[in-house]
Amino acid sequence: MKGTRRQGPMKVISVVGARPNLVKIAPILRALAAVRRPSLSIESRLVDTGQHYDDAMSASLFRDLEIPQPHCSLRIGSGSHAEQTAATLSAFETVLLQEQPDLVLVVGDVNSTLAAALAATKLGIPVAHVEAGLRSFDRRMPEEINRRLTDAIAELLFTTEAQAGDNLRREGIASENIFFVGNVMVDSLRWTQRSGRRSTLLERLDLRRDAGAADYAVVTLHRPSNVDSREQLTGLVDMLTRLSEDLPVLFPAHPRTRARLEQFGLGARLDVVTAGAEGVRPRHGRVCLLDPLPYVDCLQALAEARVVLTDSGGIQEETTCLGTPCVTVRDTTERPITVEAGTNVVAGTDPDTVLEYARDALAKRPAPCAPPLWDGQAAERIVDVVIDRL
Ligand code: UD1
Repeated sequence: MKGTRRQGPMKVISVVGARPNLVKIAPILRALAAVRRPSLSIESRLVDTGQHYDDAMSASLFRDLEIPQPHCSLRIGSGSHAEQTAATLSAFETVLLQEQPDLVLVVGDVNSTLAAALAATKLGIPVAHVEAGLRSFDRRMPEEINRRLTDAIAELLFTTEAQAGDNLRREGIASENIFFVGNVMVDSLRWTQRSGRRSTLLERLDLRRDAGAADYAVVTLHRPSNVDSREQLTGLVDMLTRLSEDLPVLFPAHPRTRARLEQFGLGARLDVVTAGAEGVRPRHGRVCLLDPLPYVDCLQALAEARVVLTDSGGIQEETTCLGTPCVTVRDTTERPITVEAGTNVVAGTDPDTVLEYARDALAKRPAPCAPPLWDGQAAERIVDVVIDRL
């Protein structure tokens, strides 16, 4: 790849689609924009596939993270895996043929990630994959398929933890293409903390703080394996109601989860709370259903909670940095470093077991942990490598 670039500015197309992509891309775009090197100019373009499109899932993150408006929006929207992937593949190919970039940069493991990487590779355009090498070793997860395939075709693989590099090498990827750079999600977290942006979520919900942590739990669930089965989701809602006897439970729900709660007739068991509105407040014995939280509110909610229950990948990492006990409602994690850090436990998906872990976690307050290179500078390292290798 080195030395094959044509003359002129280096054109990099970064791709986002789903909510977590935005958190990861924000610092990379900033680092690309900040490059000042003699005889090198970078043309940075952002393409939004539109996999996520609600304000709470997309536009609100553009605002909170000051992400520039995309140069191009593909408006793919929802659909089956095949529909979403195929529509992105085809629409993104058209963009690539027009733009002729030197590099396509993809992040994470969502359908947009794989589709964009595949479209570029088929046109002979090098791909950089940020957050490469994470493996749950559970092929039933769509993300695991997306990760493995994206890594197999990427030319530059940027990893967040040492084990990810080991996974890639075991799969036959050459060491010289693997770069351990740290975690861009942490870059966004630190940037937000430094920016002085302050959330008023707890005040709006009337949740008081005593000496550090406030007395509430946060839960996020959106994996099909947890929310698409009536039996599993009912068991989890029952479990959360029991946990709420100990402390109020905030449940900012992904649109998919919200739809399933309604479909399975579980909505009536939850208090629907609108942050800032008069009326219902989080209380013992009831679970508070909220809209998906804006990024700044979400970080505050995670930072000050006594425990977080989640099936998200990114939240396992954010709670590690924030020193909040995290109970992962899954059988596996692709982010083992969060367990080694002592902040995260992988509890499985049986509601009784999850409740036991959550109650155990209430007695703990782990120290915030910064795994190697989770220092807020990952994006700069990525951009240095890109410049060097193109
Ligand atoms: C996707 C990712 C998942 C990631 C998650 C973060 C894949 C395979 N999965 O899952 O890895 O953890 O994003 O949120 O790419 N919907 C809306 N509004 C939106 C977006 C989605 O209502 O803005 C609803 C639609 O009913 C849609 C459903 O949510 O069908 C699922 O969305 P989709 O993008 O297919 O997957 P996620 O579950 O969000």
